[in-house]
Amino acid sequence: MTITKASQKDIPAVMELEKSFPGTPWKNPSSFQKPDHSLFVSKSEGKTNGYILVHHKPDSNHIVKMMVDPNSRKSGIGKSLVNHVKSDTPLSLNVRASNTGAINFYNSIGFKKSAEHAGYYKNGESAHEMLMEDAAPTVAIGNGAMDNAPVVSKEQQKKIVTKGKLKSFKEFCEELDTESLQ
Ligand SMILES: CC(C)(COP(=O)(O)OP(=O)(O)OC[C@H]1O[C@@H](n2cnc3c(N)ncnc32)[C@H](O)[C@@H]1OP(=O)(O)O)[C@@H](O)C(=O)NCCC(=O)NCCS
Repeated sequence: MTITKASQKDIPAVMELEKSFPGTPWKNPSSFQKPDHSLFVSKSEGKTNGYILVHHKPDSNHIVKMMVDPNSRKSGIGKSLVNHVKSDTPLSLNVRASNTGAINFYNSIGFKKSAEHAGYYKNGESAHEMLMEDAAPTVAIGNGAMDNAPVVSKEQQKKIVTKGKLKSFKEFCEELDTESLQ
C-alpha cells in the first residue's frame, strides 16, 4: 500500500469512495487545494482505497474527514492514514456521536474524547471532539516500551526524526547529547 499527497487526478476516485460516507457526503472537494489543507490517498495495486483530509491549524492538525473503502476496512489502512499525518502537534477531530465504529477506531489508535458539542451537525446530532495530544511520529522511548530507557523530552524526540524518517535506536544513541538528558 502507498500513501501519497492527492493531486487533481485522484479526485474522481475520492468522490467515488465518498458515496458510501456515513453522514453528509463531500460535494465539493475544492478544500483540498487550500494552502492550509492536505489530502492524502492510500492505494493498493493502483486502486484508491482510502483518504484523509487534514486542516493545519496554528496549534494542531485537525482531521476534517477520513474514509476507507468498505471492502478494505479492518486491515490497517485507517491507522496507516492517521500515522501518515502525525507530526509534532496534537491531532484533533470531530465525529458524530452515533458513529460508534469510527469512535471505537479512534479510541483504539490513541485518541481520547476531549469535549462534546451538542447540536454540532445540521440534523441536530452532537459531535465528540477527540484529541491525540502526543502525535509525534517517534519511537516510544521512555513510555514503558523499554525498561531502563532514558526519558526523552519532546525536543529530544524531534532529533530522532530526520525528514519524517526514524533513525535507528543505535544512531539515535550515538548522536544524542546525553548530558542534556534529565
Ligand atoms: C473509521 C475507518 C476510517 C477505520 O478504517 P479501517 O481501515 O477499517 O481501520 P483499521 O483497520 O486501521 O483499524 C485500526 C484499529 O481500529 C479498530 N477498528 C476499526 N474499525 C472499527 C470498528 N468499526 N469498530 C471497532 N474497532 C474498529 C480495528 O479493529 C483496529 O484495532 P487493532 O489495531 O487493535 O486491531 C473506516 O471504518 C471508515 O472509513 N468508516 C466510514 C467513514 C468514517 O466514519 N470516517 C470517520 C469519520 S470522519
